[in-house]
Amino acid sequence: PPQYSILDIKKKYSQGIPLSMVTAYDYISASWVNKAQCDLLLIGDSLAMTSLGYSSTTELPLDEFKYHVKSVCRNQDGPALVVCDMPFGSFEAGISQGISNAIDLMKLSPRVTSLKVEVGPLAQDQYTVEFVKQLCSRGFPVMAHIGLTPQRANSLGGFKVQGNKDPMNAVELYKTAKKLQEIGCWSTVLEAVPHKVATYITQRLSIPTIGIGAGDGTSGQVLVLSDMLGLQPTEHLPKFVKKYDSIVDQVNTSLEQYKNDVEARKFPETGVHTFKIKDDVYDEFV
Ligand code: KIV
Ligand code: NA
Repeated sequence: PPQYSILDIKKKYSQGIPLSMVTAYDYISASWVNKAQCDLLLIGDSLAMTSLGYSSTTELPLDEFKYHVKSVCRNQDGPALVVCDMPFGSFEAGISQGISNAIDLMKLSPRVTSLKVEVGPLAQDQYTVEFVKQLCSRGFPVMAHIGLTPQRANSLGGFKVQGNKDPMNAVELYKTAKKLQEIGCWSTVLEAVPHKVATYITQRLSIPTIGIGAGDGTSGQVLVLSDMLGLQPTEHLPKFVKKYDSIVDQVNTSLEQYKNDVEARKFPETGVHTFKIKDDVYDEFV
């Protein structure tokens, strides 16, 4: 099936149908997302932690990220529109550095339809706003990402809910979202924002908002695949994650069984998992 276009997604948004987005890391996880016909597939830099074992997205080398982008995009077995993160360090050195990395990311596969850029509060982060503006003016489709922006976690003071204490921070979030819409972003992620604030912002924008830890008043939702499926033995998941499965436990049971079968010579079973040789050549082997 052909991939959804941004227009298809906007149509669904204007019909008031909530949008589903989920991350994928490689060909196989992309095949799951596509098979389920999710609307949007995010190649999130969270793969640094969920797939590569880094402790932060800021550690992720751009080259390693690109390898994953190519792997995801080789899966074309479904309609999910592919959004690709701009990792930490790929645009901060200057507008021209950022534009050139944006070109490189888009060129990895025609499947990459949109970039996603984390943007800090408007009053502080004029640089990224300008960068996003330059991207939009050059025709790059940009999904913004505001609220809790993990790449900026240090300057935000940690992984904290944004706009929940000082009302001015909530106003700032709204102003940032408005500005990003005005400069041409086609959508925005709202991460770890109080339900009411996310709903307020969504109602006043004419572009879709994709929430994570933002309640049900946004235009859509996004979850990290390994969190929702329980792909790794994570002790602590953020409150906003709904865990739909515990794959790591199922996998563990199967692998332990396999190991025990091998040790007990229960696998492979002769006649079931084995090949025969023809009777006439058999004699040569005995
Ligand atoms: O990298 C990621 O997974 C993300 C989502 C949490 C929005 O940016
Ligand atoms: Na991300």
